[in-house]
Amino acid sequence: MKSILITGGAGFIGSHVVRLFVNRYPDATIVNIDSLTYAGNLENLRDVAARPNYRFVKADICDYAQVQRALADFAVTGIVHLAAESHVDRSITDPFVFARTNVIGTLTLLQAAKEYWNGHYDGRLFYHVSTDEVYGSLDHGGFFTETTPYDPKSPYSASKAASDHFVRAFHNTYKLPVVVSNCSNNYGPYQFPEKLIPLFINNIRHNKPLPVYGRGENVRDWLFVEDHARAIDVIFHRGRIGDTYNIGGFNEWKNIDLIRVMIRVVDRLLGRPEGASEKLITYVTDRAGHDLRYAIDSTKLKTELGWEPSLQFEEGLEKTVKWYLDNQAWLDGVTSGDYQKYYEQMYKI
Ligand code: NAD
Ligand code: DAU
Repeated sequence: MKSILITGGAGFIGSHVVRLFVNRYPDATIVNIDSLTYAGNLENLRDVAARPNYRFVKADICDYAQVQRALADFAVTGIVHLAAESHVDRSITDPFVFARTNVIGTLTLLQAAKEYWNGHYDGRLFYHVSTDEVYGSLDHGGFFTETTPYDPKSPYSASKAASDHFVRAFHNTYKLPVVVSNCSNNYGPYQFPEKLIPLFINNIRHNKPLPVYGRGENVRDWLFVEDHARAIDVIFHRGRIGDTYNIGGFNEWKNIDLIRVMIRVVDRLLGRPEGASEKLITYVTDRAGHDLRYAIDSTKLKTELGWEPSLQFEEGLEKTVKWYLDNQAWLDGVTSGDYQKYYEQMYKI
């Protein structure tokens, strides 16, 4: 009987991974460890919460004793590690919490797994979920491949890069069986509305200004979150130990172009005249150290493991906008309380 520990399962991507694994592997126990920070929300998992193969443990990944206990209590055989502080703007305001969770938290999990498995590594795996931001920023040409040297530029990406290095160091030094993936920007249901796409959908709906950093010239490479979850499943089960896989959909968008498409879709679904919300576009001070462009080359994942994105971007965006419009109660739930304070301090518009 397999027992898979997923960290950060109450967050955006983690909730999709938990849902996929709970549904797909009824004979495995899926244990979700999450400390429920502002970004963690058990509502994201309401549909699987009562399943017999699902368990939730409220715990901090920086707490060695709690992690050790969970590994032993559930006889964990595999770990999918997603728990992190994930928002670049917050890392600019408070980098320390990023070092704590992303670096010390990852190190705590690695050490606990090493001690718990104690050299019996057969059928064991530590899967670390990382980001393309560790590779730095691209100019107008080229792609990040698995061999692109690390060059993180924000406190967030620096903390993720440090965690990736620890994961590889544990493989090299202690032979801990690990695999790492680095993915591009995700979008889809259950994303906390501090990130571009859900924030802007919510603001368009409420006729609030759309704060575009700089001139909106930065480029991001967008992937539907369920495709990321599928890639994690494929790599977890068939990836080569010690290897790294880039995940992305070859889907680059300049922010301002993406924002205009979003405006069209939201306006249409709300029955507003085409382009009615264009007037909400508000250029604001740029993000400090704003990376110009990310673009992922995921050829290795396609050729070696046969993974490809399932959705075209237009289809994924339409699905995503519909989900947020249909789930206003979810949005209201996560935008009450502290969110308002964050929003006022962050945007002042
Ligand atoms: P998220 O912020 O939505 O969720 C993070 C989750 O981790 C939350 O449920 C939170 O409660 C939990 N958490 C935070 N600190 C914790 C701690 N100390 N102990 C236990 N749980 C804790 O993040 P996300 O966007 O779903 O990202 C998940 C992972 O994927 C991260 O590692 C991130 O770096 C990576 N990633 C994200 C993207 C993206 O576009 N969002 C792209 C590539 C990689
Ligand atoms: O590339 C993967 C990364 O993608 C993940 O590792 C991060 O966890 C995730 O947050 C995301 O980082 P970004 O910084 O690219 O995502 P964000 O949604 O914050 O911003 C996307 C782009 O939109 C970026 O160029 C900044 C811009 N932006 C963002 C916000 C929130 C704006 O112009 N205005 C905004 O209000």
